[in-house]
Amino acid sequence: KERIVQEKGFDHTLNLLEEGYPFIKSRMDLYKCNIFETHIMGKKAICISGEEACKIFYNEELFQRKGVMPKRIQKTLFGVNAIQGMDNNAHSMRKHFFMSLMTVDHQKKLGELFEKEMEASADKWVNMKEVVLFHEAKNNLCRAACYWTGVPLLESDVESRADDFCAMIDGFGGVGPRYCKGKAARNRTEAWIEAIIEDVRQGKLTVKDDSPLNQMAFHKEPDGNLMELQMAAKELINVIRPIVAISTYITFTALAMYEHPECQEELMSGDNKYFEMFVQEVRRYYPFTPFLGAEVHKDFNWNQYEFKKGVLVLLDVYGMNHDSKIWNNPDEFQPKRFEEQKNRTYSFIPQGGGDPGKGHRCPGEGITIEIMKASLNFLVNKVDFEVPEQDLRYSLSRIPTLPESGFIMKNIRRK
Ligand code: HEM
Repeated sequence: KERIVQEKGFDHTLNLLEEGYPFIKSRMDLYKCNIFETHIMGKKAICISGEEACKIFYNEELFQRKGVMPKRIQKTLFGVNAIQGMDNNAHSMRKHFFMSLMTVDHQKKLGELFEKEMEASADKWVNMKEVVLFHEAKNNLCRAACYWTGVPLLESDVESRADDFCAMIDGFGGVGPRYCKGKAARNRTEAWIEAIIEDVRQGKLTVKDDSPLNQMAFHKEPDGNLMELQMAAKELINVIRPIVAISTYITFTALAMYEHPECQEELMSGDNKYFEMFVQEVRRYYPFTPFLGAEVHKDFNWNQYEFKKGVLVLLDVYGMNHDSKIWNNPDEFQPKRFEEQKNRTYSFIPQGGGDPGKGHRCPGEGITIEIMKASLNFLVNKVDFEVPEQDLRYSLSRIPTLPESGFIMKNIRRK
């Protein structure tokens, strides 16, 4: 048996909050290992990283999700007892349902809807001194997501609803006011969506049969009953909120274009393949998901390390995106690294690893990539703009993070 390196000290929650994204990787670099033990929120936690580690993390016989997510994260980001914390058959049934809402046709449709919203906005931007891309993107994603799901949204409510979705996401790494804001935003949003689902169930609101709203309203649990109203609302929010979250990646996409003028020529040629490589590299290079957590379901050994039932295990998503064992020159932005076709199921995991149909990997990757490509096309081919002096730095110690200025654009012209 090998002994797992143990970090000295009682608890490292404060270090995690202070250090943010690099917390796990900086320790692995220091200890020269891909596994170590620490204590987070008074609990032992084993941190792991790398492709092989990811494979065991997604082995559902060895790990479970139930009871893993701290309540404070459920009350802001995910919704209490929703899909993220389910296991086994109940999880597969729910997941199968989520996957059915995110077909290739639906991905395309959302990409188109979003691009139309951006174009409509751009017509207004030409008369404005400057705009903040993050703000415009989150509002337009909220419009597109509500339209696509079938959720009615008054134009006068777009901004405040979009801000609530963002506050839920921002509440994740926050303590104090950020947490309170996220929780209030979730309570408001759940009440809003519950009322809409209730109206659909009672026939007061009719929406298209195949719309996610209608599907969610009439989805049956394995026991044959309709999903509880509160749960249906949380799960519909689990579709809309992460679409709004793509605004973070869109802002990083613009930043990448700006920071890498050497990519300009290839972007201008409008090659779909290059667009795809570029957005993949954005998802790799820029920080979003920090790490994932699961609990050991039964004792096992991995590489002669002992994993005991009940122990919390954290998989280092951010670290794997910058791991020199996985990527050549990981700290360089190089879209072409994705030219090589390779199985990256367990090595490139910005939105989780493994098979999304079976485990907990994000079912929204197709939608995310489609929308990121649509925004890249918009920024490259539909508008001309200047980037005024601003603070484009993003802090790695804040989870989640964003360029400070949100990416300001000025002198915008339509192409
Ligand atoms: C799960 C990231 C966009 C819906 C996840 C997970 C991550 C993630 C890291 C957890 C994987 C795991 O626990 O193993 C992201 C990022 C996004 C994004 C960074 C880009 C902004 C989306 C979109 C949707 C979506 C667009 C839906 C339209 C979900 C759902 C789950 C999930 C429902 C839970 C899956 C499960 O527990 O089985 N996402 N996601 N996400 N994501 Fe996403």
